[in-house]
Amino acid sequence: MKRDLLTPLDFSKEELDRLFVLADDIEANPAKYAHACEGKKIATLFYEPSTRTRLSIETAMINLGGRVMGFADAKSSSAAKGETVADTIRVISNFADIAAIRHPKEGAAAVAAQYATIPIINAGDGGHQHPTQTLTDLTTIRKLKGRLDNLTIGLCGDLKFGRTVHSLVAAMSRYENIRFVFISPPELRMPDYVTDSLNDKGIPYQEVTMLEEAIGGLDILYMTRVQRERFFNEEDYIRLKDFYVLDEKKNGARQKRLLYPAPAPARRRNCPGG
Ligand code: CP
Repeated sequence: MKRDLLTPLDFSKEELDRLFVLADDIEANPAKYAHACEGKKIATLFYEPSTRTRLSIETAMINLGGRVMGFADAKSSSAAKGETVADTIRVISNFADIAAIRHPKEGAAAVAAQYATIPIINAGDGGHQHPTQTLTDLTTIRKLKGRLDNLTIGLCGDLKFGRTVHSLVAAMSRYENIRFVFISPPELRMPDYVTDSLNDKGIPYQEVTMLEEAIGGLDILYMTRVQRERFFNEEDYIRLKDFYVLDEKKNGARQKRLLYPAPAPARRRNCPGG
């Protein structure tokens, strides 16, 4: 039976623990894994721009001895001629052993998984989920803090359209004694489906507007970019894009563990990374 990675919850906590150990070993002993995917091909189907996600997935496959095919722009595939995701993935299932897809529409990766005969990795579907970023974020938090339990995590910025925060909240909700602080303008607050799920599980969270109100009590601060490409209205984007500026004057900013999934607009390149 094929497995897909559509949300971070598609891996159990125990599977994630095994993946963290494996990732550490691959990092420490790359030569041991240099032929692990020999003879295998991954298709990277990117209907939306990407630097980090596409190239890190392709680099991983190359480092494991496999090969890469695909497109970085939907205009260069038959999507430009009206081909559906279902038809594209049916065709690609004949060529590749696994596929990673990024698409501007929520649920596109799930549609691909439904029609594919090969495993599908969701590399970001609209403003919904971004599980591969979450695997990186969990690895980073584990390295920075030495644990994934007992943490107060602040998520700041565009919580409405920011798919990385939706996936991170889902993943972190499975660990013990987690508390979230959602920091956003009212227009960009966390969607109800995320907060409803936290309410159902009895996981504490707080919603605030000002970063200064929350920053002092956080173990981790996760900053997100305002997602220009998801706005219907350019005026709203311009009004909200600089709502949060993190600088050293903010209480305790220098001591915080800061994660930022990028990309950063050019003039904010000095934003400290995760
Ligand atoms: N973090 C992330 O998804 O970056 P890219 O858009 O560059 O892939």
